[in-house]
Amino acid sequence: MTEPKPFGVYVHWPFCMAKCPYCDFNSHVRHGGIEEERFLAAYLRELDSFAGFAPGRTVSSIFFGGGTPSLMGPKTVTAILDHIAELWVIAPDAEITLEANPTSVEAEHFTGYASAGVNRLSLGVQALDDQSLKSLGRLHTADEALRALDLAKRNFGRVSFDLIYAREGQSVAQWRSELKEALRHAADHLSLYQLTIEPGTMFAARHEAGTLRVPDGSLAREFYLLTQELCEAAGLPAYEISNHARPGSESRHNLIYWRGHDYAGVGAGAHSRITMDGKRRALSAIKSPEAWREAVEASGHGLESDEGLSAAESADEYLLMGLRLAEGIDLERLQAMSGKAPRSETMAALAAQGLVRRRGERLTATPSGRLVLERIILELAA
Ligand SMILES: C[S@@+](CC[C@H](N)C(=O)[O-])C[C@H]1O[C@@H](n2cnc3c(N)ncnc32)[C@H](O)[C@@H]1O
Ligand code: SF4
Repeated sequence: MTEPKPFGVYVHWPFCMAKCPYCDFNSHVRHGGIEEERFLAAYLRELDSFAGFAPGRTVSSIFFGGGTPSLMGPKTVTAILDHIAELWVIAPDAEITLEANPTSVEAEHFTGYASAGVNRLSLGVQALDDQSLKSLGRLHTADEALRALDLAKRNFGRVSFDLIYAREGQSVAQWRSELKEALRHAADHLSLYQLTIEPGTMFAARHEAGTLRVPDGSLAREFYLLTQELCEAAGLPAYEISNHARPGSESRHNLIYWRGHDYAGVGAGAHSRITMDGKRRALSAIKSPEAWREAVEASGHGLESDEGLSAAESADEYLLMGLRLAEGIDLERLQAMSGKAPRSETMAALAAQGLVRRRGERLTATPSGRLVLERIILELAA
């Protein structure tokens, strides 16, 4: 029997205790609290709609992302997982991840999440010194983060944590020692993101005003290459631009996105890619949490757009996502999707510059290539 194609379910929890000044995720602060039960009812209803869009699939991974899903009560997580199990078959070895912030309040939820069936925790540590955490607007100390990490390791079979590097005032030498410390604490996975100045954030305003300086250009490249080198030496090589894992411990959920498989995303602002009647569709939900909930209450889903993707659009997406991965893309699959493959001369020219590598039908971007991926994709798609 052939294995069913991977299929993921993403659950977006759009609330946070405070808005971090660098973050442009769909996350909102509600000082007056939220009606968690009413939101739960909306998640269950929207899941019903998605079961209609993607019937009979086997769920290979589930991901609670945010926002801050660790603000959800364990009962809410249990009810959502139980409902997913009623609507689809969940594979016996399914990866079930929850993204958590490492404050002590949230850490109290860990045992409840594990009992609900969560088997992988992804913790937003961000930095290992208190001064940096303060400038990033975080509500936890480094010590609290390490204690939460310890607790996570005791409660979940698989644990990842996130750090942001190339921060304001950070030197390469400081990052070297911070990353070495992180690697001593690492379980099976690390997400290491270079600080990005996202338009519309507080950091973007400060950056424009000249009061926030961050490493860029050749210095940013130095940070990136050092990160690759240290992680590789520690046995957690990069399998994607910002993601490092012990071989076999890659995030199966995120691989679904990068390998171009189907996923259903529920919650405010969530995106989905679902193949219906042989055609791939791109769906996205209303971003405002309350407007999303009201739409679900009125019509069963909170979608604001649903578009069919053309063969060329699907192929471009596969190229864009697949080249982020160390394993790269399959040129035959690309050809089958769109009827055209990148020109051999273009691939050869990029290979001569040390930016891509071709082995048979597999095309990968080299670590230097992954730094200029946009340029490579533009040339390959031309
Ligand atoms: C959905 S977010 C946050 C999850 C969780 N709420 C937290 O803050 O820990 C996922 C990750 O994206 C990263 N991130 C968010 N904005 C970023 C930015 N502007 N530059 C680099 N990394 C960023 C952070 O490391 C964060 O943990
Ligand atoms: S980084 Fe995490 S906690 Fe901070 S605003 Fe974004 S989603 Fe919320």
